[in-house]
Amino acid sequence: MSRPFLEVRNVSKSFAGVRALENVSLTINQGEIRCLVGENGSGKSTLIKIIAGVYAPDHGDIIIGGKLFKRLHPIDSIREGIQIIYQDFSLFPNLTVAENLALNHEMSQRRRFVDWRGVNQIAREALARIGVEIPLNARVEELPVADKQLVAISRALLQHARLIIMDEPTTALTRREVDALFRVIKGLQQKGISILFVSHKLNEVYEIAEKITILRNGKNVADGDTSEFDRAKLIYHMTGRQVEQSRYEREAGGDQARPLLKVENLSRRGEYSDVSFELYPGEILGLVGLLGAGRTELAMSLLGLRPPDSGRIYIDGKPIKIRSFEQAVKQGIGYVPEDRLTQGLFLQQSIGRNIVVGTIDRYLNRFGLIDSRKVNGQISKWVRDLSIVTPSPLLPVQSLSGGNQQRVVLAKWLASNPRILVLNGPTVGVDVGSKAEIHRIIRELARQGVGVLLISDDIPEVLNNCSRILLMRKGRIVEEFTAGMVSENELVNKLSGAA
Ligand SMILES: Nc1ncnc2c1ncn2[C@@H]1O[C@H](COP(=O)(O)OP(=O)(O)OP(=O)(O)O)[C@@H](O)[C@H]1O
Ligand SMILES: [Mg+2]
Repeated sequence: MSRPFLEVRNVSKSFAGVRALENVSLTINQGEIRCLVGENGSGKSTLIKIIAGVYAPDHGDIIIGGKLFKRLHPIDSIREGIQIIYQDFSLFPNLTVAENLALNHEMSQRRRFVDWRGVNQIAREALARIGVEIPLNARVEELPVADKQLVAISRALLQHARLIIMDEPTTALTRREVDALFRVIKGLQQKGISILFVSHKLNEVYEIAEKITILRNGKNVADGDTSEFDRAKLIYHMTGRQVEQSRYEREAGGDQARPLLKVENLSRRGEYSDVSFELYPGEILGLVGLLGAGRTELAMSLLGLRPPDSGRIYIDGKPIKIRSFEQAVKQGIGYVPEDRLTQGLFLQQSIGRNIVVGTIDRYLNRFGLIDSRKVNGQISKWVRDLSIVTPSPLLPVQSLSGGNQQRVVLAKWLASNPRILVLNGPTVGVDVGSKAEIHRIIRELARQGVGVLLISDDIPEVLNNCSRILLMRKGRIVEEFTAGMVSENELVNKLSGAA
């Protein structure tokens, strides 16, 4: 019998009237891998912060290793062996791998001079414990995301972690890196370390988690062995309804139309070369490729952010040069960026303001004043259409859960009425139920004649929504597929270059 390491009992937490958690209980045994799932805003990150001692619960108890904590401080949580790896990893970017790993140890020694040999040795051993090789002298900011994460895990182990908690750890990882991470997690489990992680990717949940806890609207709605939940049941518990995946079929007749956007032999040194394609009104065109294939760079060029060295861009058959972001917007191009946390949002500003910030001049009345009724109408419309979960659009964006912040980015661009919409990973970090909702909105825009370029790593998303799919490899478009003519497996294999 394994013993419980952590018990959370009947915890509740509100933020200024918003119930984030209500009577939530959770037990994690020693050496257990448990996944915490739930829709955006269901309370996952809040629960993690309570376990970390960052937030005090309004009610409830936390018991770690049999010890009851009425008021848990972050330092208690760490002392008891709980380590949280946040999405930014909290590493020191300008220090080396070795320094990041050995820093705590060095500080506790209170010597006047750093013992470099000791530092390297600690770091080498720490990485060896999880069986990975990362250059000790590399500066952390130069490492790929996956390696940063492994450094963060090693550091957690050096601090005698007995439970490691990760909030959406696979978001920025490629499939191969996810495999490596999962191997490390299984190795930790062998050593009796427990893992709690948050994920929106159900395939991964089934692959790695033995136990599942499901939150819905701040309540613990189900809990048990992963094998007890099939996909439909899991989604049902998360959303409280059935969610169906359907396929988008573009209405016939669009093909004779003139392309909205035409790109001819576009190249930018070191990023992509000789790229040509056409995007028709009402079309959702997929663009897939591995990380570093040049997809984002190509999108940046369409937005005037990284001008191409050569080649031509046409809109409505007219050759145009897009030299700045403003020009791109004027041409009717909208862009939903990849990284919701660093691009596209003013976190301290209100949700409403973020939605209308790009289009505020459309709401001026004949006196040149902002027509606040119209503005508020627009804001309510988008909050409703995208089901952004908030008591008021006057609250700052940073009060929203991660997935709801992503919807604000989307709302902002949809509100600008683009004719061409470039979406880069529009549903990264968004829960399954809302994903279907976002797909519905994208299809609706396409039906209205918008041309959508969908860049995504989510292969089912691409297959279900796109009429054509372009595959990019090493900066070139190497193949084009028609929807329905390629299976999920084939496309995944093509992507990795295996076929
Ligand atoms: N600091 C805060 N101030 C006000 N409200 C907050 C704060 N933090 C969280 N909330 C609210 O608490 C609820 C739960 O948010 P939480 O971040 O825990 O969700 P989540 O399950 O992690 O969602 P996601 O999958 O989108 O990351 C949401 O309604 C959110 O708006
Ligand atoms: Mg969260």
